Amino acid sequence: MGEKLRLEGVIKSFGANDVLCGVDLSVDEGEMVCLIGASGSGKSTLLRCLNLLEPIDDGRILLDGVDISEPDLDPLPVRQRMGLVFQSYNLFPHMTAFENVMLAPRRVLRKSRAELAPGVESLFARFGLAAQMGHYPDQLSGGQQQRVAIIRALAMRPEVMLFDEVTSSLDPELVGEVLDVLRLLKSEGMTMVLATHEMGFARDAADKVCFLDGGRILEEGPPATIFTDPHEPRTREFLRRVL
Ligand SMILES: Nc1ncnc2c1ncn2[C@@H]1O[C@H](COP(=O)(O)OP(=O)(O)OP(=O)(O)O)[C@@H](O)[C@H]1O
Ligand SMILES: [Mg+2]
Repeated sequence: MGEKLRLEGVIKSFGANDVLCGVDLSVDEGEMVCLIGASGSGKSTLLRCLNLLEPIDDGRILLDGVDISEPDLDPLPVRQRMGLVFQSYNLFPHMTAFENVMLAPRRVLRKSRAELAPGVESLFARFGLAAQMGHYPDQLSGGQQQRVAIIRALAMRPEVMLFDEVTSSLDPELVGEVLDVLRLLKSEGMTMVLATHEMGFARDAADKVCFLDGGRILEEGPPATIFTDPHEPRTREFLRRVL
């Protein structure tokens, strides 16, 4: 598998707050990379920079070997190739699940309803929501709404998916169904980068776990190493607190 995504010396500050202090990361095609680390360590900022929602101050971000962090580059085609799903689902309340999912592809891909509908319907079916397509968000559980938000991102046919704490606002009994969606995506070969507090999930599903500390990837490796035999004292300390 080739390298899909590469960060080289990525630096990002907000005013005097240095949030990313030289992040290097390589993500292979089909790989699932989990970002872990304390609150404020820069996980969300890293994902937002990857998706070009935040300009970086220095370094480079390469997608398929092409620098996407040039300031004058149009971010829209890149965002189409790289979907980002957040903790809050932000579905439009006055539109059904199906209409919510159709909105962006109709606008951005400029395809007709008839062209898009079969693909969108099959996404709902694949993620166990065929019966809920016509429901409004307030008729769906939190877990179902989050799955609709993931389907909405997938409807753009992205090559990479970024997930920022997508289970954090869910009741514990609904977390599993969303994690199952991530597992299914991985089994289908999707390249994914996740910020997560679900250590159990990172441990059994990730190919690579990166521990962020003070705006740097202090340590990275296969979950078996990071979770059972971390090198860095700060990784050990973090894991002791959260496990
Ligand atoms: N738009 C912004 N403007 C100013 N500061 C910001 C902005 N976004 C993030 N920060 C700061 O960047 C730092 C890293 O925040 P970030 O949200 O990336 O952390 P995180 O690892 O995702 O934390 P959490 O686990 O709580 O989600 C924090 O100090 C935060 O206050
Ligand atoms: Mg965050």
